[in-house]
Amino acid sequence: MRLFLCGLAAILTARAPKETGAPIQSVATLGEVMHDMVIPNAEVVWDSVGTIYTAQGVDEIRPKNNEEWIRVEQSATALTESANLLMMDGRAKDKDKWYRRSIALREAGAAVHKAAKARNADAVFETGGQLFEACQGCHFEYRYTIDPSTFRSH
Ligand code: HEC
Repeated sequence: MRLFLCGLAAILTARAPKETGAPIQSVATLGEVMHDMVIPNAEVVWDSVGTIYTAQGVDEIRPKNNEEWIRVEQSATALTESANLLMMDGRAKDKDKWYRRSIALREAGAAVHKAAKARNADAVFETGGQLFEACQGCHFEYRYTIDPSTFRSH
């Protein structure tokens, strides 16, 4: 009987699915995640704060009202979570450096979000720089090794 139970346990274990996570699956291509999620939301962040020097003087660009601040928060959320999408099977180019580069994007996105939530324009500017470095870090490692003539112009 004991032997039988052991055998049964072994069969049940063998039949158990290896992964117990949610049935997530990557659908969009890496290029689509870049163009449709990462790039447009990064542009919202970068365009939200800045300084323009003109002949007439200095123009400070800042979110002007709550709605504009919320727009920056939304984009930061999308960027933060898109980093998780980059790490999904089917998109991740490896499980080591690619993960680290994606985590850098996730952390930069979360930092922008925190700055926007605090309504701190200087901090959005600074974390926007961190965001740019996260993009470039991964591109220097992975993207510029691809033939540039195959890039879609943007
Ligand atoms: C973890 C890696 C990684 C991160 C982080 C990343 N990218 Fe990319 N990106 C890539 C790769 C790889 C490609 C080339 C994709 C391809 O050709 O399929 C690419 C392509 C691009 C392209 C060119 C697309 C084209 O078709 O010409 C742009 C623009 C771009 N990324 C913007 C960004 C911006 C902006 C950020 C940060 C907010 C960012 N990326 C963060 C890996 C990354």
